[in-house]
Amino acid sequence: MCGIVGYIGNEPSAPILLDGLRRLEYRGYDSAGLAVHSPGGVQVVRAVGKLRNLERALEERPLHGTVGIGHTRWATHGRPSEVNAHPHVAGPVAVVHNGIIENHVALRNELRAAGCEILSDTDTELVAHLVRREVDGGANLETAVRKTLSRLHGAYAIAVLSTLEPQRIVVAKNSSPLVLGIGEGATYCASDVPALLPYTRDMLFLEDGEMAVLEGSGATVTTVEGAPVKRAIQRIDWSPAMAEKAGYKHFMLKEIFEQPRALEDTFRGRLDRQAGDINGAEIGLTDADAADIKRVVLLACGTSHHAAMAGRYWLESLARIPTVVELASEFRGRDAVVGAGDLIIAVSQSGETLDTLVAAKEAKQKGAKVLAIANVIGSAIPRMSDATFYTHAGPEIGVASTKCFSAQLANLVMFAIWLGRRRDALSPERTRELVEALARLPQQMADTLNGTRQLVANLARRYVDARDVLFLGRGLSFPIALEGALKLKEISYVHAEGYAAGEMKHGPIALIDARVPVLVLVPRDDNYERSLSNLQEAKAREAMVIAIANEGDVDARDASDDLIEVAAVDPALTPFLTVLPLQLYSYYVADFKGTDVDQPRNLAKTVTVE
Ligand code: M6R
Repeated sequence: MCGIVGYIGNEPSAPILLDGLRRLEYRGYDSAGLAVHSPGGVQVVRAVGKLRNLERALEERPLHGTVGIGHTRWATHGRPSEVNAHPHVAGPVAVVHNGIIENHVALRNELRAAGCEILSDTDTELVAHLVRREVDGGANLETAVRKTLSRLHGAYAIAVLSTLEPQRIVVAKNSSPLVLGIGEGATYCASDVPALLPYTRDMLFLEDGEMAVLEGSGATVTTVEGAPVKRAIQRIDWSPAMAEKAGYKHFMLKEIFEQPRALEDTFRGRLDRQAGDINGAEIGLTDADAADIKRVVLLACGTSHHAAMAGRYWLESLARIPTVVELASEFRGRDAVVGAGDLIIAVSQSGETLDTLVAAKEAKQKGAKVLAIANVIGSAIPRMSDATFYTHAGPEIGVASTKCFSAQLANLVMFAIWLGRRRDALSPERTRELVEALARLPQQMADTLNGTRQLVANLARRYVDARDVLFLGRGLSFPIALEGALKLKEISYVHAEGYAAGEMKHGPIALIDARVPVLVLVPRDDNYERSLSNLQEAKAREAMVIAIANEGDVDARDASDDLIEVAAVDPALTPFLTVLPLQLYSYYVADFKGTDVDQPRNLAKTVTVE
């Protein structure tokens, strides 16, 4: 996830572009850059790291001109570095891009074969070269971009400048967001509304498959094929302050609601619905590697460990491969028995967690192969791993991990399906069924979030003063119960326990009384009947029981005090839905208590200490 911005008008463009990027920095902050039409042609300044580094670079090399584009990057192709930072330039053309071009390998080969000198590892630079080729062939900028778009597969919001047409910015959108701002003698573009709010509230939202030519006097919108588009300008009522978090009170709430988008981005290019299979190109393992694995060892901490626990379930049930899951902090230094034939999967949002890094290094030294599942491109764990399967959740700012957890689940289940198919543990029919079920998830997650939000907020208000809260689940729901408890602990400071529902009777049931809310996960899966019995056991001890079950589950409704209904999915995929109300529950309890939701006490987003 990156942020793009553009300005064409009569004011100096650099300060306006920088201000827009500041408001988009939540979308990524690996590097940033501006390209501005200057008297000598398009000039570019880029810097690695946060925006302040770009500001410093601009103090040394100021950009003068009233037309420009800017970018703040969340690296997807290529490490964070100046050469990979946007804007990317080819001849007279400069491009900024948010998205992922799926056919980048084929395009790179084609451009190289045609003699293009490609400097970066990014997919975006390829777009700049494609536009340049058209411009060199005599096309105007609009036509050059149009022709280029016909060559791209994937997601993009782009803004393009050409030295040859200094009074124009050409933009286009497919899957990635892009909004145009219409001001007095100035026209803007940005990845989202907040970037433009200080300048105009008159916005024009581009749809997928549309492009626009921006001039100081306004924007001309067409389809990519060239048909004119009439789009009404919308007046936005948001205040700039609200929009800092895109209208959400906290980053955590925003990130909870971003999960459908995070999954779409993580699935993109990997769910091959035509083939009814997982496209494993990015996993970095060959079919022969898949056949050679004797055992999988999942290493992770905190929320990532809970995702890894679900991963074990999938690897055993879908790929039929022996799997263990370990807390990285307990694995390291233990001289664990691990070596050749073992595939270590190190799961980490940040890719920097010290315990996971050290544990994975120890296993690698003993001859195991390491596959990282990480969200931050080029971070330490991917760097030391043999291969990395990235999640594409975008930057997660709230300390409590939410969207990255879902994206980790997505990569783990995709990996298990890929491996299961390669090892003949999964039939082609079941593989296709799972791929289709995964493709439906983003919409089902959005429906579940919107459908449960108010009820969950009401329950959180009712139980805000509870001193202890229990979360119960079996099978795939057990890690989700642990995750629900961890979320509540870390942001609301309420004592919470996640328990395997079947273990209750072996001790913890003694904790239950009429003051303890118990959230029980009872989705329709192989454990349904047993989980319902555990729910009834808690109810019989006078607990206040909240069931999280599939829509229309009459038995769960009758047996509980309150029922939170989630969309019905393939029984193998229930965690994607059941975790959502638990995240919302912890968020609202914390918010009602008035804690610092995004930066809870004593915690850090990335734990790089012993
Ligand atoms: O970056 P990582 O995924 O390796 O981080 C692991 C844990 O520190 C992290 O999941 C932590 O538990 C979160 N704050 C949970 O919300």
